[in-house]
Amino acid sequence: MAQYTWRHASNSNPDNPIPTDHPFNNVNNNEPLLVDTTTIAPTGYFYHRDDNDDNDSALGDDKASSTTSLNESIFNYQYENGRRYHAFRAGAYPLPNDEMEQDRMDMQHHIYLLLFGGELYRAPIGRNGQSDIGKALDIGCGTGLWAIDFADSHPETQVIATDLSYIQPTWVPPNLRFEIDDAESEWHFHEENIKFDYIHIRSMAGSIADWPRLLQRAYDHLSPGGWIELTEFETWASTDDNSLPLNSAYHQYQVLLCEAAASFGKEMNIAPHIHQLILNAGFVHVHKEVQKCPLSPWPKDRRLKELAMYMNLQMMESIEPYGLALFSRVLKWDTPRIYALLDGVRMDLRNLNYHMYSRVHCVYGQKPYN
Ligand SMILES: C[S@@+](CC[C@H](N)C(=O)[O-])C[C@H]1O[C@@H](n2cnc3c(N)ncnc32)[C@H](O)[C@@H]1O
Repeated sequence: MAQYTWRHASNSNPDNPIPTDHPFNNVNNNEPLLVDTTTIAPTGYFYHRDDNDDNDSALGDDKASSTTSLNESIFNYQYENGRRYHAFRAGAYPLPNDEMEQDRMDMQHHIYLLLFGGELYRAPIGRNGQSDIGKALDIGCGTGLWAIDFADSHPETQVIATDLSYIQPTWVPPNLRFEIDDAESEWHFHEENIKFDYIHIRSMAGSIADWPRLLQRAYDHLSPGGWIELTEFETWASTDDNSLPLNSAYHQYQVLLCEAAASFGKEMNIAPHIHQLILNAGFVHVHKEVQKCPLSPWPKDRRLKELAMYMNLQMMESIEPYGLALFSRVLKWDTPRIYALLDGVRMDLRNLNYHMYSRVHCVYGQKPYN
């Protein structure tokens, strides 16, 4: 029989003390607080399942629900080639979680907002002040900016956002809770009888080994009539004029990146497949939108040029985190060789004669009512 508790981040992270004006500031940090699990955690508290059965520790046990307390293992980060990687389910996700990477994720959130005219989603939910979204889930929330914005703009919605890394702020809207969880392990929400009205998954390319299983879980955890939405950049540069030479460093990088990710078992260029994946999972009213996002400020159009300036900066910051671990762990390249390729890629990203863009796919669909 499992017990459910909230634990505060400050249990193991002295940088995150319970704020003095926090309603739980009189709680002994070492004593987890038993809670009504249908409620949202107070800011800075995390859901924790204490199991008395075989599912005692989720770490390394794929059968168990993966939610875990913020014990030391969460912060037992792995350091490699000057970057910091997640500790929970260490090695599962090949990108770092350090400050540099968090800044990049935040910049990418801004780019998504520019692309979608400031909108956080495309699915026909919660518009015009309708509070038809009781519960929403954001999978792989990263630094949590999307979830925070969504919770702020939907105060009636209880929002849960999960990630392998505890890199989210502690001061967040009261209707939002973050959880450290592995989306590829069995989800625990059914134990709380939680069904979602909306599930959001964004920029998870290279994170997921089994997309059909993930979408099936999402389907099972949605209420009838609930919506799923996936948004992904193609991790592949396209041009309309063949201006990117096939022998360029950029092209070599993207080919190797996709090959290394495939060997690692987590497809990188998943974007072109998400439409079919959503259809295959049984969703209806599936809608797809594809936009072009330039990778460098080569377009003449003013809006695209501005978008491209942000995108170029973001690309400069993303080629290392995406490639470093995959090239060293999977392709067994040494770091001088990796950095030499990355230097070439940066040169290509500065070359305005290469009219590169990435397609951004946004697909949403609805779980049927019957
Ligand atoms: C590129 S970031 C995207 C963050 C966020 N979705 C956004 O759009 O800004 C991918 C995130 O997915 C998380 N992640 C990767 N694999 C995961 C998994 N199996 N379960 C939960 N989160 C995962 C990573 O820790 C990382 O924070």
